[in-house]
Amino acid sequence: MKINVEISDIVQNSAEALIVNLFEGVNQPAGGTGAVDKALGNAISDELTHGKTFKGKLGETLVISTHGKIPARYVVVVGLGKPEKLKSLQLRRASAAAIRACQKLKVNRVATLLHGAGIGNVPAETAARLLAEGSLLGSYKFTLRKTGKTEAEKEAAPLGNPIEALTIVEQDAQKKAAIETGIRMGSIIADATNLARDLAFDSANYVTPTFLAKKAQEISQNEVTCKIYEQADIEKMGMGSFLSVSKGSDQPPKLIHLTYKPKGTPKKKVTLVGKGITFDSGGYSLKPANAMELMKDDMTGAAVVISTMKAIAELGNLDIQVDGIAPCCENMVNGKANKPGDIVTAMNGKTIEINNTDAEGRLILADGLTYAQQNVHPDELIDLATLTGACIVALGKEASGIMGTNDELIDGIRHAGEPAGERFWPLPLYEEYKEMLKSDVADMINSGSKGQAGSSAGGIFLNEFVEPDQKWVHLDIAGPSYTDRDVPEVPKGATGVGVRTFLYYLYSITEI
Ligand code: BES
Ligand code: ZN
Ligand code: ZN
Repeated sequence: MKINVEISDIVQNSAEALIVNLFEGVNQPAGGTGAVDKALGNAISDELTHGKTFKGKLGETLVISTHGKIPARYVVVVGLGKPEKLKSLQLRRASAAAIRACQKLKVNRVATLLHGAGIGNVPAETAARLLAEGSLLGSYKFTLRKTGKTEAEKEAAPLGNPIEALTIVEQDAQKKAAIETGIRMGSIIADATNLARDLAFDSANYVTPTFLAKKAQEISQNEVTCKIYEQADIEKMGMGSFLSVSKGSDQPPKLIHLTYKPKGTPKKKVTLVGKGITFDSGGYSLKPANAMELMKDDMTGAAVVISTMKAIAELGNLDIQVDGIAPCCENMVNGKANKPGDIVTAMNGKTIEINNTDAEGRLILADGLTYAQQNVHPDELIDLATLTGACIVALGKEASGIMGTNDELIDGIRHAGEPAGERFWPLPLYEEYKEMLKSDVADMINSGSKGQAGSSAGGIFLNEFVEPDQKWVHLDIAGPSYTDRDVPEVPKGATGVGVRTFLYYLYSITEI
């Protein structure tokens, strides 16, 4: 979908469908919506007064046939909800709901008002960014492995309908440049999120560590460089913990390292480390069949890191050095695989007794974190991982767990997550949790006490691989990485959670 801006009158626009908007509780539409209402002989206000369903609630849509009164065939009215509640999330969601209504109409060319611009203090650039984000996030569907393009197929999958062009129609020519900037920014942010969704939802026989490494190489451009470490390099660096997970698989491991360097001296260095388990069978601590079904998405952390770096390569214009690191391998079973009780030595010299081969994410991240600190010396170190089922038990699908060694960094990420529409809820890293990791034979075990603070146990394990004065945050995205709920801007499937929060954090994008 190509998004552009046009300075003209929406009523006369020749698109097949027009998107207009309405606040909840308003019976007499004004502005662009009012003009369309008038041209349709009060069809919208009539529905508001006499109809029974459409109330302008957030994300609600009303489709009106224009019967030739204006060039467009349909008008889609989208609810913005209550004006006092209008924030980034609402604008993004309204745009997503509207574009999905248009997909159902099977139209190809759509024109839209710029929702929210001029309301309160919402700048046109922000409104355009959120419109672009919402439209591209909402119309997303995983279609990579479907063949055929027949009408019957589109019928079966209404969201598969590709809208070719979305035109933002604005009357004020002075806003054009700002809207174009917003469209560009929003499109890059949403496209990166959709890439993360594709990578996470695609199957593990396609998305191998080698596949992810190729992707990372493809996205390196402009100021972003890419280095791939092969098995032999990883051995040379002494990453015994990472390699122990990988050796049970026929797929070779890859360590991906992408770097963005600003032209001048960087203000600070932020390093992102993502868990890249391209399939998690559990290893010899084998998962039951139902728990294994979705484990192709256990590389969401790596996908999010790669996709964030892609957006940074495209956006540029950032005075921070950003490193994206992803240890990638499979967790499988064969004659060489980790056995419960095996003891391995991590890159930082610590020994780990693997009491559960299914707690493999922390084993690969341990070396990823050591590598990041030794090679980059970051000011801020952030890892994200689909690390524990316990995090889903604690927080459900509505929030990721956040824990770390620096409150300011934790607050910064949580704050960026708000306008991004991604929640992070703090979990503790109490000293006492260390007791859970006591081993009789090695420096630590990899899996804590069953049924007790599983996400914090994961965090406290990772903390063993973080230098004492390192600012570090761990994000457990096991819950939000995948959704069964169909939210307008987060369709069912892989969500790409983290991409927006990282980009909002790095680019200091704040709430409206
Ligand atoms: N990849 C899983 C965590 C997970 C579970 C993510 C469900 C998404 C949905 C991770 O590698 C794992 O298996 N963790 C174990 C840890 C335990 C053995 C300490 C778990 O959660 O059971
Ligand atoms: Zn596991
Ligand atoms: Zn896992």
